Amino acid sequence: MSTTVLGIETSCDETAAAVVTSDRTIRANLVLSQMAEHAPYGGVVPEIAARSHIDHIDRLVADALAAADMEFADLDAVAATAGPGLIGGVMVGLMTAKAIAAVTAKPLIAVNHLEGHALTPRLIGDLVFPYLLLLVSGGHCQLLSVDGVGRYRRLGTTIDDAVGEAFDKTAKLLDLGYPGGPAIERWAETGDAARFTLPRPLRGRPDCHFSFSGLKTAVRHAVAALPQPPDDRDKADMAASFQAAVVDCLIDRTTNAIAVFRKMHPGAVRLVVAGGVAANSSLRRALGDLADAQGCALAVPPVALCTDNAAMIAWAGIERFAAGLTDPLDCAARARWPLDPTAPPAPGAGVKA
Ligand code: KG4
Ligand code: ZN
Repeated sequence: MSTTVLGIETSCDETAAAVVTSDRTIRANLVLSQMAEHAPYGGVVPEIAARSHIDHIDRLVADALAAADMEFADLDAVAATAGPGLIGGVMVGLMTAKAIAAVTAKPLIAVNHLEGHALTPRLIGDLVFPYLLLLVSGGHCQLLSVDGVGRYRRLGTTIDDAVGEAFDKTAKLLDLGYPGGPAIERWAETGDAARFTLPRPLRGRPDCHFSFSGLKTAVRHAVAALPQPPDDRDKADMAASFQAAVVDCLIDRTTNAIAVFRKMHPGAVRLVVAGGVAANSSLRRALGDLADAQGCALAVPPVALCTDNAAMIAWAGIERFAAGLTDPLDCAARARWPLDPTAPPAPGAGVKA
């Protein structure tokens, strides 16, 4: 029997609502970006984000149901991101879902945003557990063994910045606009990636952790050494050099993770990339080459499902609902919520959830 779930996502700077069915049909997937509201500040302002979610979420849920040609009565459950993320925003989406669940007497499913990203490839196709996930977003940079719904083992995480954060900060430094990832990618297209010699933090180390703050500092020094202000050629070359360094680091760490994953799960390795940075075509190409070289199957969700959206939250809700996992109406919003709470912190880490 098919189940239908409403998904709500408000953990960062996108207000999103979606309706998805268990036969993998996305009936509606609406994303309202707050980019223009945060752009003047060069980053997401939590208070502005929370207020904007409040202003838009009710309308967006109504629009998603209308686009799906459905009413609350057609839903089997309501799913919302309950963390990790900016707590004010998370509370707005979770409270909205609780209100709908209470009024309609439908089950509530509190979804970990990272689980939403992690399970997205199963919304796209017939991917079976276990698989190796490279999760690369504005808030996270992790390698995980996805063993089943709710069953994750973290192989590596970032010691300092998330990779999307590194893109955003570097773009700010070069005055390329916000959000930084797409801007860096655009500028890099015409740049010379060999012009600036930048470090590849942790490359060659045997573990699966990440570090990007040294790279960011190296960019800052290299930019400061240029005639001011940097011209378009300088900016394009720096964007290309930075992007190449990041991709090298991600590939090096993922190569190690493939070896670890093979020991955990003998047999074929399925490699999946998710999160906003997975939209980067240079990274996609490099992962394709890595998968070929390592004999892995690679799954990359379409760009619209890599960046934050509510279809992934609805889908995670469907997977959890099928596993009998629902949540009480007094469940809490969580700023931090690691997928693998047992994972040891990265050495030297100011650890991210
Ligand atoms: O998953 P996401 O939409 O939100 C979080 O959960 O963080 O990821 C947003 C991040 C931002 O840092 C953005 O700059 C980055 O993904 N991003 C990209 C690209 N598109 C988005 N980074 C590199 N290349 C891109 N094309
Ligand atoms: Zn995300």
